[in-house]
Amino acid sequence: MGSVTNDRILVTGGAGFLGSHLCGRLIASGADVLCVDNFFTGSKRNVAPLLGAPNFELMRHDVTFPLYVEVDRIYNLACPASPVHYQYDPVQTTKTSVHGAINMLGLAKRVKARILQASTSEVYGDPEIHPQKEDYWGRVNPIGIRSCYDEGKRCAETLFFDYHRQNALDIKVVRIFNTYGPRMHPNDGRVVSNFIVQALRGEDITIFGDGQQTRSFCYVDDLIDGLVRMMESPAGVTGPINVGNPSEFTMLELAEQVLRLTGSSSKLVFHPLPADDPRQRQPDITLAQSVLDWRPRVALEDGLKETIAYFKDLFAGRVDA
Ligand SMILES: NC(=O)c1ccc[n+]([C@@H]2O[C@H](COP(=O)([O-])OP(=O)(O)OC[C@H]3O[C@@H](n4cnc5c(N)ncnc54)[C@H](O)[C@@H]3O)[C@@H](O)[C@H]2O)c1
Repeated sequence: MGSVTNDRILVTGGAGFLGSHLCGRLIASGADVLCVDNFFTGSKRNVAPLLGAPNFELMRHDVTFPLYVEVDRIYNLACPASPVHYQYDPVQTTKTSVHGAINMLGLAKRVKARILQASTSEVYGDPEIHPQKEDYWGRVNPIGIRSCYDEGKRCAETLFFDYHRQNALDIKVVRIFNTYGPRMHPNDGRVVSNFIVQALRGEDITIFGDGQQTRSFCYVDDLIDGLVRMMESPAGVTGPINVGNPSEFTMLELAEQVLRLTGSSSKLVFHPLPADDPRQRQPDITLAQSVLDWRPRVALEDGLKETIAYFKDLFAGRVDA
C-alpha cells in the first residue's frame, strides 16, 4: 500500500461510492480529511462511520462553485459516474467535470496543493485497440448521449495538463476502469450492481446485446490503493495512468458467477445494446505496475462475495437505504 502523509486532504465527491472508501482509508492512516459533496449521488450514510472521527469533516458544497479552504492534497472525485445519473442532467455533468476541475485546480494553485484527478477509461471511448494504453488518444463521439461525461472528463484532463504546464502545478491523473464493491448504488444501472440486485430480488437478469461483450472489473480496495499510491508518487509522475483490473469477463460469465454466488434462480433476458456501448474495455496496467508497483489483488469471486453481502444487508435494512 502507498504511504499517506498526515497532511490536510480534500476529497471532492467524498460521500460517493469510491470517495467514501478513499476517505475511510485516509482517516485510518491518520490524515486530516475534508470531504466535500453536494449529495447528488453520494449520501451521508456512506460516510456515517467516519463522522465521529476527530480528523474527519463533511461539507455540503457543489464543486461548480469556487471553494476556499487550506489543504495540502486534493483528490477530485466529484462527478456522477454511472450513465443513468450523468445523463439525468447532462449539462450539469459537463459543468461538474469542467467547472469543477477549474475550481479545484484554482484552489490547488492558490494553496500550492498537489491535486489528483479521477479520470476514466471513458476517455478512450469505443476503442480500436485492446487493451488500452495511456498513449492511445481514444475514439469518443463528441455529440452522443455519453459525451457529457466522456468529453467532460477529457476536457478536465486537458485543464490538468495546462495548469501543470502553465503554472507548474503538481498534478496526478488516474484513468479509472470499471470498479465495483460495497456502497455501489443499487439502481445506477452498472452491470455488477444490476446483476446482483436482480439476482437477490429473484428478477430476470438483463443482458444487453448477446452478452459476449467483455468488461474488466476492479475491486474497490484495489482501486483505492492505486489512487493513494499515485497521489504519493514522486512529483514528476503526472500520469495519465490506468488503474483497473485487466482480467476480462463476458457479461454472460459475470451473470453466471452472480447466479452461482447468490444461489438465485433468476433467468437471463436479452435486450438491445444501448447507443455507443463499447464492445470491449480492458486496461493495460504496465505503467501502474512499473511506476506505482501496483496491481489488483482481489479476485472477482472474492470481490463479488463482499458486494453481494453488502446488498443483502442493504435490502435487509441492516444498512440505511
Ligand atoms: N466507479 C467507477 O467504476 C469509476 C470508473 C471511472 C471513473 N470513476 C470516477 O470516479 C469518481 C467517483 O465515482 P463513483 O463511482 O464513486 O461515483 P459516485 O456517483 O458514487 O460518486 C460521485 C460523488 O460526487 C458527488 N458529486 C457529483 N456532482 C457533484 C458536484 N457538482 N459537487 C460536489 N459533489 C458532486 C456525488 O454526490 C457523489 O458523492 C467520479 O469522478 C467518476 O467519474 C469511477
